[in-house]
Parts: sequence; structure tokens; C-alpha cells
Amino acid sequence: MNQRTPLIAGNWKMYKTVGQATDAARRLVAAGGGVTHTEVMIAPAFTALSAVSAVLADSDIYMGAQNMFWASEGAFTGEISASMLTDVGCRHVIIGHSERRHLFGESDDLIARKVKAALDADLIPVLCVGETESERETKKTFSILDKQVESGLKDLIPEAGREPVIAYEPVWAIGTGKTAQPEQVGEVHSFLRDLIARRFGEALAGAIRILYGGSVKPENISALMSLTDVDGALVGGASLDPEIFTRIINF
Ligand code: 13P
Repeated sequence: MNQRTPLIAGNWKMYKTVGQATDAARRLVAAGGGVTHTEVMIAPAFTALSAVSAVLADSDIYMGAQNMFWASEGAFTGEISASMLTDVGCRHVIIGHSERRHLFGESDDLIARKVKAALDADLIPVLCVGETESERETKKTFSILDKQVESGLKDLIPEAGREPVIAYEPVWAIGTGKTAQPEQVGEVHSFLRDLIARRFGEALAGAIRILYGGSVKPENISALMSLTDVDGALVGGASLDPEIFTRIINF
């Protein structure tokens, strides 16, 4: 039995206006606000962060952002800095989501700079990694993950209590309804923990939380959470409805 507190996180992606987001946050606080067996985090769109933060203020539910830029400020039209996120109440920030990597061309290098900037600002980065379907089919899964983790955490100085979070999200399982099989998830998560142990030592490997993401729903969360190296989930579509997300939280 490990000592890691699970984290169930909802990535709301580009959904919900401010009114819809605050309404969902209110319903989530009412239904799932008092849980103690897991930490809970939601990541609304930038425009709703401030308003959702006010709704979550007296609850145990954490708030994260879905992206950020690495510079602290400057002429970077359209970007958001880490301090802007802490200022509106974010504790976490999702970095390197596959949609950022594949739709917006984010490189491992850019992602590494963002992870460092998040840690420097006392935000907890949720570093997303994962292989595409063709990479899995051509047996490149582990080399891809190795590269994404090595690069993403290259500037990390392990410090107790300030561990980043890793989210393994196989690209082929995101939004497709195709959840990875428990054996596939277990195999990758233990690979990732071994990689962290070799690179940063056993202390960080024992403390770091590795989440699974990709078509997580109430029907599959318990099987996923029963795997030794799965410390939670990063949920997309099924996190948008507070009742469904609450069922996942109460796995
Ligand atoms: P789905 O749960 O909709 O497959 O999305 C997963 C995801 O991308 C979470 O970040």
C-alpha cells in the first residue's frame, strides 16, 4: 500500500462559459466537495478561472489551468503566465497535453520550459505524456514516453512536497471511448515510476503521482484505480457533468 493520496482531475478543455462553469463547480462542491480519500481538481478554461475560484474557495476542490507560457511577463500576445494563474487561485497547471502537442505544435523543449516556470512559481505541473496509435503499433511507446518524461522534467530539482504530477494519456484513448486495457496501463505506469527512480531517485519515484487519462468514466475508474501504480485520473469528457464526475471521484 503506497502513501500517495490519489488525485482525480477534470480537464474541461474548451467547454463552458463563465455561467456554465460556475454552475458546474457549485454542483460539484455540493455533491463531491467533502471527499477525503482523494484530492480533486478541476481545470476550467482561462476565462472562467477567476469566477470558479470564488465558488471553490471554501471547498477542498483544487483548481488548475489547462496551459500557460514560460515567461513571467512580456510581449507575448494571447499568453498567460504562471503568476497570473496563482493570482486567480490555481494550484495546478496541465502542461503538454496531447492536444497542445499535436494541434498546436508544442515541442518537448517548450513543454520543459513551461514545467520549470510552473515549478518556479509554486504551481504543480501536471505533465502529460502519451504515445499515438501508430507509435504503439510500431512498438515505440516506451521510447516516446522516455523522451517526453526525460525532456519534460529535465530541469527538475526533486524537493519533498513539491512533486510534479505525471499524466499518462495514450493519444489513441483520448475522446475515443477506447480506454487502454488495465494491463497496458499497469505496464506503462510501472515503466514511468522506474524511469523516475533511475533518473531522480527512489524518494521522488515513491512520492510522484502518475495519473491515467483517456476515456475514463464511472464504469472503468475502479479497475484503473486498483492498479498499483495508478494514482488517479485526468478526466476529459466525463468531467463536464458534475454528477458523472462525482461518481468517478467516489470510485
Ligand atoms: P477524455 O476523458 O474525454 O478521453 O479526455 C481525456 C483527456 O484528454 C484529459 O486530459
